[in-house]
Amino acid sequence: MIEFINVSKEYGKSGKRAVDDISFRVETGELFGFIGPNGAGKTTTIRMLTGTLTPTAGRVLVDGIDVTADQIAAKKKIGFVPDGADVFDRLSGLEYLNFLADMYGVSAADRKARMDKYLSLFELTDAVGNRVASYSKGMRQKLATIGALIHDPDIWVMDEPMMGLDPKAAFILKEEMKRQCDSGKTVFFSTHVLEVAEKLCEKIAVINQGKLIAQGTLEQLKSAEHADSLEQIFLELTDAESEGEEA
Ligand SMILES: Nc1ncnc2c1ncn2[C@@H]1O[C@H](COP(=O)(O)OP(=O)(O)O)[C@@H](O)[C@H]1O
Ligand SMILES: [Mg+2]
Repeated sequence: MIEFINVSKEYGKSGKRAVDDISFRVETGELFGFIGPNGAGKTTTIRMLTGTLTPTAGRVLVDGIDVTADQIAAKKKIGFVPDGADVFDRLSGLEYLNFLADMYGVSAADRKARMDKYLSLFELTDAVGNRVASYSKGMRQKLATIGALIHDPDIWVMDEPMMGLDPKAAFILKEEMKRQCDSGKTVFFSTHVLEVAEKLCEKIAVINQGKLIAQGTLEQLKSAEHADSLEQIFLELTDAESEGEEA
C-alpha cells in the first residue's frame, strides 16, 4: 500500500510548489496510473515515494512505513525504474543486475531464476554481457526494468516506463505489469500517454501544476466529468485549471 498524506515539495526557497498538498492511496494489488502533462509534478512525486527527495511537508507511507523516517525499510519494498532509465554506463548488463541483487541481498538461486526469466521475457539475454554504454535507449529501459524486479519487490514503481520502448517491448511490459498485479503486487507508474493509462489502469490520479485534480477508477472519472474518454477528462480538467490560474 502507498499513502501520500498532504505532501508538498518546494525546490529551493522559491516558495513555488512543484507538488502542492497531494493526498492519495494506492491499495495493495492495484495497477495505478499517475497521469499529467509535462512539468505537472509526476517525477517529483515519484522521487518522494522512492526516497530520493524529501517532502517539504506531509508524509509518504509504504505499507505503513514512513519513507523519510525509515528509508531503508521502505526502499526494500520498492523496485524503481527511474525516468530515462539512467543506469551505470561502465558496467555490463550482468554486472549491473548482480550489483542490484547484492544490494538487496538476493540469493544466488533467486537471482539466477529471475535473471533467466526476465532476460528472456524482455529479449535481453544475448546483450546482457555487453556494456551498458553500448545499449540503445530501449535496451537500457529493459535492463532497468529487470533490475527493479530482481528482488521481487512488493511495489513496482516506474516513471514514464513506455518511453524509449518499441511497441513489442511496451506490450511485454504491460503484460508483466498485469501479471505482477494478479500475483498480489502493487504497480504504480507515471505516464503522459493517456491510451496506456486508459487500457491498463484500475485506478488513476491526475496531477496538474502540482495539484491532484482527480482520482478514482476510470468509470468514476468518466461519470464525474460527463466524459467518454480519458483524453476528454484530461483536457477538460487541465484546461479548467489553467484558466483558473490566469483569472
Ligand atoms: N531539481 C529541480 N529544481 C527546481 N525545480 C524543479 C526541479 N525538478 C523539477 N522542477 C520543477 O518542478 C515542476 C514539476 O516537475 P516534474 O516533477 O519533473 O514534472 P513531470 O515529471 O510531471 O514532468 C516543474 O515546474 C519543474 O520545472
Ligand atoms: Mg517526469
